[in-house]
Amino acid sequence: MTREALKRLEAGLPGPWYYDPAHYQRELEAFWYRRWVAVAREEELPGPGDWRTVRIGTQSIVLARDEDRIRGFHNTCRHRGSILCTEERGNFARRRIVCPYHSWTYDLGGQLVATPRRMETPDFDFGDFPLYQVAVASWGGFVFVNLAGRDAPPLDVGALEAQFKRYRLGDLRIGKRIVADVQANWKLLGENFSECFHCPPVHPELCRVVTAYRDAGAWGLRGAETAPEFAAGAATLTLDGSARLPPIGTLTETERKTIYVPAMLPPSLFLNVQPDYVNAHLMTPTGPESLRIVYDWLFEPERLPLGGEDLQHYVALWDVTNRQDARNCEWQQQGIQSREFKHGHYVPQEFDCHRFDEWVRAGLAGEKPAD
Ligand code: FES
Ligand SMILES: [Fe+2]
Repeated sequence: MTREALKRLEAGLPGPWYYDPAHYQRELEAFWYRRWVAVAREEELPGPGDWRTVRIGTQSIVLARDEDRIRGFHNTCRHRGSILCTEERGNFARRRIVCPYHSWTYDLGGQLVATPRRMETPDFDFGDFPLYQVAVASWGGFVFVNLAGRDAPPLDVGALEAQFKRYRLGDLRIGKRIVADVQANWKLLGENFSECFHCPPVHPELCRVVTAYRDAGAWGLRGAETAPEFAAGAATLTLDGSARLPPIGTLTETERKTIYVPAMLPPSLFLNVQPDYVNAHLMTPTGPESLRIVYDWLFEPERLPLGGEDLQHYVALWDVTNRQDARNCEWQQQGIQSREFKHGHYVPQEFDCHRFDEWVRAGLAGEKPAD
């Protein structure tokens, strides 16, 4: 990905795009219901019959592990539409999905297999009522769903595939998870992740380790830099830059010394990759002005469980930084409501925000016209 400063001030997206319910609906259709969305880690469904629900916009999806694969279904019964799973996670006893209303029963492939107490009619065909499937794929241990179902293209993670090939992402395991409900439009979080103009005022802890960020996103854009990128002696991103774990075993010498790689797979997955751990963000919208983010700290499985103090050593920096980002996005969400606010302005080093907004505009332009 090229880093090139903008040559002029660029306009951000129109203010109402961040709160207008009708516009939010357009974006749900264009991005969240038609693209691959990272929603979970495979390790959350370790055994046959394990399930969990995830929410994207207004849609509730059940992820369920069959013998060797994870399937996804809309959380709705083919009888009269009750949700099937009323909790966040569990295991389907006897590998049967039983609706809590009139007990229509499905197998893990989504086929209707029993309808207890139903009086017979000649027209009833069990084959007519399978659960509605969504497409499911995984990469790097992340479970992605695509609500386009059979129309979904293959999952394509682009440059991330080569970039993180040796980071064992698929093997890494959750050492810590923090879930946050944030009162902001999902695009503000995407824009926030795309610039470091905000780093000096917002992230004093991060700037102590990533010294380049004191330059407010301009580092590396003016030609040869003389200031170092990281604090002296830093080995990873922790509050003091020290590492208590060895680098991921499969990394090259250069990757072991690469203290930080940020990456984004819009709309839902953000990665902060260090040589010895990964902080992953799984984001899904819950409304025009709200979203949920699941923050996972991922480690090599042989390093887990990490003792409390060592775990805190690794969690603290991104935890404080993520909270700062969420808080600032909530403040921005409030300010955008002003009748006078038309759109934001991107300064040169916010080039990636502009790129993100272009991606949003392109996605909306490719949207099928409403019926
Ligand atoms: S709504 Fe599910 S069995 Fe009736
Ligand atoms: Fe930030």
